Amino acid sequence: MSSSPIGFFDSGIGGISLWIRVKELLPNENTIYFSDSKNCPYGNKPIEYLNEICIKNTEFLISKGCKIIVVACNTATTNSISILRKNFDVPFIGIEPAIKPAVLNSVSGKIGILATKGTLSSTLFSQTSSNHLDKVDLIKKDGDGLVELIEKGIFEGNDLTSLLIKYLKPMIDFGVDQIVLGCTHYPFIKPLIKKLVKDVNVIDCNEAVAFQLKNILEINKLNNSGKLNNSNHIFFNSSRDNTTINKVLENKYEIFNFDK
Ligand code: DGL
Repeated sequence: MSSSPIGFFDSGIGGISLWIRVKELLPNENTIYFSDSKNCPYGNKPIEYLNEICIKNTEFLISKGCKIIVVACNTATTNSISILRKNFDVPFIGIEPAIKPAVLNSVSGKIGILATKGTLSSTLFSQTSSNHLDKVDLIKKDGDGLVELIEKGIFEGNDLTSLLIKYLKPMIDFGVDQIVLGCTHYPFIKPLIKKLVKDVNVIDCNEAVAFQLKNILEINKLNNSGKLNNSNHIFFNSSRDNTTINKVLENKYEIFNFDK
């Protein structure tokens, strides 16, 4: 069981930003990553549809023998992780916007969050953020259109920059000193975001989630101590276009096309 793979899923390449941290922290682990690019973006899908997709993604990863599932997507976690935990016995790790570290770091008492419409409108996000509203003022922006550009492999340039300015300028004008990236696609454009917001601290929680995964594996005695190589990382894509996945993985892995 401990040599069984860790399963990841996301609407596309976003969760690979988390997978990269996990691979660094847990080099002995086998992984299977499912990029559900055919259904991308998740951020504007009705919750019932999202639940259905997440259940299918999980069934697929479990059918491949995964010992734990990483919901490598804020939208899927904040809307569907409770349904997944009710339906499956396997342990789940989710990813949610890192509001708490932003609140702890903030001096101005104002923080910004950039996430999908689906994450910002979720009950889980409202509950988590409401716990901090007595300490900080929060400005939320739905990053409509960003995921679509990132999925095309666009990590810089005029179109992306103008869209980012539209979302980030109101945050800067509001006086934020922390901006939370609440979508796993956004770490791929963090260098451009940093350039635009200058001294403002930009936070994603990929590293914290990777550590949480390590802890949960250890607690459940599921961590793998065997010696592995690259052939133990398997990628599936529900669409036929592998261009951007290959770009972020630097053409190091074979991608299998699989439509659930
Ligand atoms: N990467 C995802 C997230 O963290 C999904 C983005 C989308 O498909 O809209 O929210």
